[in-house]
Amino acid sequence: MADLSTTFCGVPVKNPIGVTSCDYGGVEKLVRRVGEQGIGWVIGKTVHKIDGPHRWPRPFFYSLRHEGNDLKDVWICSQMFHNMEYERWLDEELPKCLKTCEEMGMLYIASCSGTSAEAETWIPFLKDLEERGCKMIELDTGGPHATFGAIEAHKDVGAPLALDPATAYKVTKACVDAVNIPIIFKTTPQCVNAAAVALAIQKGGGHAISGNNAFYGAWIDADTNSFYGVPGSMGGLMGRPWQIFSLAKILETTATIPEMPFLGGGGVFTGKDVARHVLGGCDLVGMCSAVYSRGVKVLSKTIKEFEQWMDAKGYKTIKDIPVITDQFMYLRDWKREGPYMQDITPVIPEFSDEKCNQCGICEDLCPYGAISLDKAAGTKPTFDLDKCYGCGWCVGHCPQWAVRMVKRETGEQIWDGKGVIKDWVSDEEGY
Ligand SMILES: Cc1cc2nc3c(=O)[nH]c(=O)nc-3n(C[C@H](O)[C@H](O)[C@H](O)COP(=O)(O)O)c2cc1C
Repeated sequence: MADLSTTFCGVPVKNPIGVTSCDYGGVEKLVRRVGEQGIGWVIGKTVHKIDGPHRWPRPFFYSLRHEGNDLKDVWICSQMFHNMEYERWLDEELPKCLKTCEEMGMLYIASCSGTSAEAETWIPFLKDLEERGCKMIELDTGGPHATFGAIEAHKDVGAPLALDPATAYKVTKACVDAVNIPIIFKTTPQCVNAAAVALAIQKGGGHAISGNNAFYGAWIDADTNSFYGVPGSMGGLMGRPWQIFSLAKILETTATIPEMPFLGGGGVFTGKDVARHVLGGCDLVGMCSAVYSRGVKVLSKTIKEFEQWMDAKGYKTIKDIPVITDQFMYLRDWKREGPYMQDITPVIPEFSDEKCNQCGICEDLCPYGAISLDKAAGTKPTFDLDKCYGCGWCVGHCPQWAVRMVKRETGEQIWDGKGVIKDWVSDEEGY
């Protein structure tokens, strides 16, 4: 059995899987609920003194499950920051949360927000939290909710702080200088240049970065001709599909400053999702909307699946897992063929006679109409070289894994639907 124990900013953690800031970290009884699933850490619900985000519209969770399976894990949420009065939370809930985490061997990370982009408005929270025994604090610098939910004077807290490197630097530096415990800066997927913000956080002395906070979204109910949930845009476009986007943003940071501890999440639902994030340079991996969509048991299930993945790979400790961020690149740096892509493709699909079961998916989905299947003949698909673009869509969709891409002239395999495509252009001059 693999040993899942690890450390984050020098603090021991029993396993890298935890719950990012949401209800589950807000009050002791919910902290206990997720703790019982064996997670290594939990982040508190963001505490604050902003007028607006503590009063949520009720109901505040709008699942899109009724729209069909495509959207089954997708939802929009108008829940905002902690809804308990700050002083009451500090005196009543925080001590209980800390005690429970201690008993359960779970790291509790506090989360807070100042009232503006002025760093001074954040510092009293940090001092309170440090004084009460918190070992680490996450700055909720990435949330979309305040933008929509706070009173006008406070609307620049949350995501706007993580969009601009100069602001990120200022807030990080002031917060890091104010206390003696690690400060984590939480990022937003709204940020276009995540690497620049990450470098600013590093320059400001930030101990770790976390990401990503939620995106925002809106939905219109076409049956009732009205908005769904509350009208307009609101925070929290959730669901597994957005892991792809969140991971891309995370990689921009982990590939730029691999030495910076990273707490990554966004659309993590399974043990393999956790593995993906660890391979992508995350030290801790957070789950949030999965816990709502699938129930709290998804946490213990994910820990088990991750452990099994490690065992299957022969990784005995977390340190044995390779981080692959040194392979991360922007498309501009990938070697490409000559300029005449309208010419006949040098890379073509090859269909396997034995594996093909003539389902016809490749024929239906080929964007260029290049694939034909004669079901009556019972043979594998054929393709028209004049129409084929060498795009690889048929490889990714074949349920039988019966298609691979090869070089037209030599038959050399370029891609079989697993891992990275072969950098075939670099082998030759052009093609
Ligand atoms: C119900 C709910 C409440 C949340 N509340 C907060 C919050 O108070 N502070 C914060 O920083 N992030 C908050 N988040 C964002 C999550 O911590 C997380 O960053 C985001 O949802 C992406 O992860 P996921 O795809 O696993 O949900 C909340 C998310 C959800 C679903």
